Formats: sequence, structure tokens, C-alpha cells
Amino acid sequence: MIQFQAQFKTNLKPKPMPGLSDRQLTDHFDVKYKGYITKFNEIQNKLKEIDKQKANPNYSGVRELLVERLYCHNSIKLHEAYWQCLAGPGDPPDFIKQVLTEDFGSYDNWKEEFKACGLSARGWSVCGFDLDSGRIFNILTDTHSIGAWNMIPLMIMDMYEHAYYIDYGASVKSYVEEGFLPNMSWNYAAKMIERYPLSQYRTSLLKKAA
Ligand SMILES: [Fe+2]
Repeated sequence: MIQFQAQFKTNLKPKPMPGLSDRQLTDHFDVKYKGYITKFNEIQNKLKEIDKQKANPNYSGVRELLVERLYCHNSIKLHEAYWQCLAGPGDPPDFIKQVLTEDFGSYDNWKEEFKACGLSARGWSVCGFDLDSGRIFNILTDTHSIGAWNMIPLMIMDMYEHAYYIDYGASVKSYVEEGFLPNMSWNYAAKMIERYPLSQYRTSLLKKAA
């Protein structure tokens, strides 16, 4: 097993530009972005050692590590995309312009909502292509630890109480061990693999990272 470690991608550092100074960008890149990478890698190492038998939703070592790993992981993903979205002005590719016009009426309408999304957010404004509907959405997210960006879900377990309370009451462990895991189907994951070329994609990414 190879434990994934995030890389500090210095090649993504934006050059100073009109409206964003070297001091601002250096502080953001070399301090904040790097800080998320350092902590992500520290958590990856700690996860190997932590006692998974003590998992608990109120407090447990594994919970704290996984919550904070998501925070750092999303932050790294979003920052790495953000640096690339700050590469100087230009028109969107024809396909993007077309779908923005179809879904928002015009490019300017999309831009108005995207800007309002940013001004309403405490964390991020993200324009995304929804893989289920094929539609474009401006996503407001207040923190790094909501959702997981750029990932195709393969297995999903609902841990809200409404998923098990009628059958299991507060016995969440019984729901996991008797209700979900024995009924777990990989058909959904198989559909995802069919929909997206994940195997070739993984091979090419791992080759590039080696
Ligand atoms: Fe940031």
C-alpha cells in the first residue's frame, strides 16, 4: 500500500498581477496553501496508527483526523484550481460559453450570479458541472470541509439518524453492521466506472506522479 502524500506544487504559484500584489499572493501561497499540505500529510501519517475500533461520532481520534483531513484535502484541491483560475483574463472555451448561455440565459447572467455567490460566501464560490444532470451550478460553500471536490463517489452510506432510527433506535453500530454492510452493492460503482474512464485516468495520473 502506498500512503498518498500531497505535494506542494510551487509551479502553480501565480505571478503578481494588476489587482493582486506579490505580497498578497506570496502570503496566500507560501503560508496558507503550504500549511494545508503540511497538515494533510501529517494526518495521513497519523491515520495509519490511529485505533479504528474506537470510532465514535461525538469524539474519537479517527473522527477528528478524518474531519480535519477533509478540511485540508478540499482546501488543497480548491486552492490548486484557484491558482489556475487566476491566470489572466480570456474568453471561456466555446463549449463552456454555450452551456453557460443555455443554463443562465447569457454569459453575463452567469457572471452576475457567480459574483453574488462569492459576495454571499464565507469560503468559496465555485462554478461546477454537475455530473448527474449535465447542468452548471454556482456553488456557495462556507468552509473547506463540506463535500469533497473533484471526486466520483463509489460507495455511499447515509449516517443521518433518519436512515436507521426506526429499525435500530440509537444503535448506530447495528445499522452499519446488520443494515448497511451486508446489503452493500457495488452496482452503483460499476455504473460510475462505465460512465467515466476511471481506470485509464488512474493509470495516467499514477504514471505522471511516479
Ligand atoms: Fe485561500
